[in-house]
Amino acid sequence: MQRLQRKRIVLGIGGGIAAYKSAELVRRLRDQGAEVRVVMTRAAREFITPLTLQALSGHPVFHDLLDPAAEAAMGHIELARWADLVLIAPATADLLARLAQGVADDLLTTLVLATDAPVALAPAMNQAMWRDPATQANAELLAARGLRLFGPAAGSQACGDVGPGRMLEADELAQRAADCFERGLLTGCRVLITAGPTQESIDPVRYITNHSSGKMGFALAEAAAEAGAVVTLVSGPVHLPTPQRVTRVNVVSARDMLAACEAAMPCDLLIAAAAVADYRPEVIATQKMKKDPGSDDGLQLRMVRNPDILATLAARADRPFSVGFAAETEKLLDYAARKLRDKNLDLIVANDVANPGIGFNSEDNAITIIDRQLTQNSFAQTSKGKIARQLIAFIAARLHQS
Ligand code: C5P
Repeated sequence: MQRLQRKRIVLGIGGGIAAYKSAELVRRLRDQGAEVRVVMTRAAREFITPLTLQALSGHPVFHDLLDPAAEAAMGHIELARWADLVLIAPATADLLARLAQGVADDLLTTLVLATDAPVALAPAMNQAMWRDPATQANAELLAARGLRLFGPAAGSQACGDVGPGRMLEADELAQRAADCFERGLLTGCRVLITAGPTQESIDPVRYITNHSSGKMGFALAEAAAEAGAVVTLVSGPVHLPTPQRVTRVNVVSARDMLAACEAAMPCDLLIAAAAVADYRPEVIATQKMKKDPGSDDGLQLRMVRNPDILATLAARADRPFSVGFAAETEKLLDYAARKLRDKNLDLIVANDVANPGIGFNSEDNAITIIDRQLTQNSFAQTSKGKIARQLIAFIAARLHQS
């Protein structure tokens, strides 16, 4: 199994002799399915060439904060936002000091300040430098701020010393990077997720649907599986690969979706991210409908209500912890709060689909979660993958309280 499938990793390389191991690390991260972009400090380029890292990562290496060509391709803020994880290996004593101080005088340190992704550091330096109280204080400060420290290991060093300060091996670093995404927050929990649009047939060749891409529901399924849940993903017609360790059930119409969800019950947690059609044609023509050659009149279709899947499951005696989505174009929080009450939900996730940068069919999302006390928690705009992990962590905390 590829533990880092589709994860976007910015690998920062500092200027230390361990930089030669970073070439191997790029390969190990890619073996696990990650997409890697390499950022090198000036000193790192004295130890290993950008060309090596470019060849191994398959992408140009970033090193200059003020390079107009690189900025035009992917600006530093864009790169910071692109990342699901920033891993700095090797992290030298100097880098730890600059990061502890919040210095942003090169591309790598600027990225660390700008990213909303977790940051992991693999320190590598001479044992005396690692033991120095200044370095120890910097490492403690960074850990206290939530940066993860991978290592260092102890052993023989390039300079001939023996002691702590060796960078962890590439394999171990790749495993630790994968651990960042697998936190066991939902271990043993049965999770049912709906995703994508539904299609409601008019005749054998026509249907009514909507713009849902399924990306948010699929990202949630992936994040829930990484959190240790047993996940069933009931999806309408979408063009997305099934996340690893997820059982996928494909459906077409709202009624199919309800039947598939009922078959997947009972569960502990239901997240309804599907954009279910509210109405369907009352009658599905058995043959392709033809235009009336003798008339310019329009066509009238009589539509009937579809079942509300979420409300139906949330009304059951064995009701799961129920989370809905409110995709709205106006009065977002009012409508969301009303849905929370009307559908008897534990949480509702409001997103503004009138904003073209987020919501339907876009890569990003920004959400506000509302609970039964009408308390609001907002997550700023970022990739749907990151929003999904934040949302799963939030839901897991509430689920364990309930
Ligand atoms: O009422 P509205 O469609 O805006 O509600 C949105 C929420 O309800 C979403 O979580 C959606 O997945 C769910 N829903 C459903 N079945 C329907 C309509 C909506 O599960 N028929």
